[in-house]
Amino acid sequence: MKKMRPAARRRTARRGGPTRTMLAAMAALAREARDRAHAPYSRFRVGAALKTRTGEIVTGCNIENATYGLTMCAERVAVFKALSEGLAGFDAIAVVADSRRLTPPCGPCRQILWEHCGDVVVHMTNLKGRSRTMRLSELLPMPFDGGHL
Ligand code: THU
Repeated sequence: MKKMRPAARRRTARRGGPTRTMLAAMAALAREARDRAHAPYSRFRVGAALKTRTGEIVTGCNIENATYGLTMCAERVAVFKALSEGLAGFDAIAVVADSRRLTPPCGPCRQILWEHCGDVVVHMTNLKGRSRTMRLSELLPMPFDGGHL
């Protein structure tokens, strides 16, 4: 396979998906949502913004609990909020955290995203404006889904 330069790979990740301007707008909303995170235990605040193909954007932030295992990630909050509002047909999610290494969705979130959003664009950014855009299928190759049952 032809080896692509990083810039070309980034364009491929976005092909047919949201524009760079839209991804930046989503990241800004995710950043605002991040300010509402409840993360007193890890102090690691995360924001997410999930977009439908028709342009609705639903945000989420991580919500921790003193029983640590009950913690809910920002991405899943956004997905469940959107689904419970009757939205469907998602094409991108933005994730924002204050980490030098960009924060990708965790394993369980990748699985949940695959189930409800399919092969969406995942736009990861940090507070310094560093970003990387990938497809969920790159983050979750060979996913298990309903087709296996
Ligand atoms: N977290 C998220 O909300 N999303 C991610 O993509 C990674 C991790 C949260 C869960 C927990 O509240 C904190 O970050 C530390 O793991």
